[in-house]
Amino acid sequence: IPVDDFDLVIFGGTGDLARRKILPGLFRRFCAGQMPADARIIGAARSEMDSDGFRTLVRDAIIEFGGDDLSSRRELPDFLLQLHYVTTDARGDGGWKELAAQMRSGVVRAFYLSVGPGLFADIAERLTSFGLADAASRIVVEKPFGRDLETARALNHDLAKHFDESQIYRIDHYLGKETVQNLMAVRFGNILFEPLWNSQYIDHIQITVAETVGVGGRGGYYDKSGAMRDMVQNHLMQLLCLIAMEPPSKFDPDAVRDEKLKVIRALDDVETHHIVRGQYSAHGDMKSYRQDVENERSFTESFIALKLQLSNWRWAGTPFYLRTGKRMKARSSEITVVFKDPPHSIFGDEGGQHHNELSIQLQPNEGMTLDVTIKEPGPGGMRLVDVPLDMTFADALGPEADDVPDAYERLIMDVIRGNQTLFMRGDEVEAAWSWTDPLIEKWQARSDVPKPYDIGSNGPEDALMLMHRDGRRWRDIKG
Ligand code: BG6
Repeated sequence: IPVDDFDLVIFGGTGDLARRKILPGLFRRFCAGQMPADARIIGAARSEMDSDGFRTLVRDAIIEFGGDDLSSRRELPDFLLQLHYVTTDARGDGGWKELAAQMRSGVVRAFYLSVGPGLFADIAERLTSFGLADAASRIVVEKPFGRDLETARALNHDLAKHFDESQIYRIDHYLGKETVQNLMAVRFGNILFEPLWNSQYIDHIQITVAETVGVGGRGGYYDKSGAMRDMVQNHLMQLLCLIAMEPPSKFDPDAVRDEKLKVIRALDDVETHHIVRGQYSAHGDMKSYRQDVENERSFTESFIALKLQLSNWRWAGTPFYLRTGKRMKARSSEITVVFKDPPHSIFGDEGGQHHNELSIQLQPNEGMTLDVTIKEPGPGGMRLVDVPLDMTFADALGPEADDVPDAYERLIMDVIRGNQTLFMRGDEVEAAWSWTDPLIEKWQARSDVPKPYDIGSNGPEDALMLMHRDGRRWRDIKG
């Protein structure tokens, strides 16, 4: 179903994110028939270029980042005709009048700020002073949304001068991933899980987001952020919220975001020995983290593991273990809910110790596995064994399951539809920083040095110990 007609201006339209994700994503939605015939995408950036130049840049980006299937689509020339470009100076006056002249009335106007947060205030100000934005316009901002509570507050304040909260779409692309939304469907669409979803039945929950990539060409940004700011404050926090929140009364933006906010506010401070930071070492011809960021004295973490507690009725006593890192063994994002052992085994010692585990894989393959205990087949008595009830979505749902929109595509279409459910609200981001800041300050105050870990490993040994000390273990990272 096509969305309403729109004019979408992408500031930073020639940048990395626009070329890798946003523009190929929009083309995919175009091919899916979701883009109205008159809709326009207007690139705005500093580079001197005309609309034809922009079309060439976008075609090249689709070829480079969209894969063979996408770049060979015969719809490409028609899509390119919907693109325009205006050279724009975010901090000056250049281009703004031309941009304003391009905007149509009676259509959705959306402004995607695919630029560093340092430009948010300047652009927001000019969007109103040059009359581009009206009361129904939407503004989309990317992470990093600040680097601490103070800077996030300042950004919220700057945006609020020109836009109402209902117009601001703060992107966390993890919320656009199919299985992340499925977390809500699984929890609240089934009767099976929710009665057991609390500290009485759940021993602990693990969230792993492991990456094989290093910091690539983003060393300058990354070395000032680290895994805590880059991944935990936003993506892992969002996963934690969806796993831990109370059922919202309905699937509507504020009902969902109110519940997520309560989770963040219930997070306890984290004890120092419940935080493990790591940095990858060189291996063969692969560079170490410090070489990658060209800072031999860097104390920034490329890996972090944490043990968290939530102070509320549902979760008191159930720890949440989180870990994320670069250059790990495999690319795998997974949430595992480990249930408690049954209170009594009628099978005695022969049965052994067994429990159920629900594992939700977000990537690379989306699916869910529920480990259940059954009798080991054969005549050998009542020996029990855990087997997975495996449901890879592509197997269960057929090829359409593979054909889901990428996170960015879905989120951009939600902007046009005016649906904020999968976007972070200002108070949510601030609450996340309020929890993150003191942890970072604590390790900075004691000059904590990250532990080295091997490229292709599970992270530093201490991260394994974080679980072992509690008589638990991380689930294997499988790509
Ligand atoms: C980004 C981080 O937000 O998410 C990157 O800045 C990280 O460092 C990326 O690599 C991971 O996203 P995905 O979708 O590949 O899991």
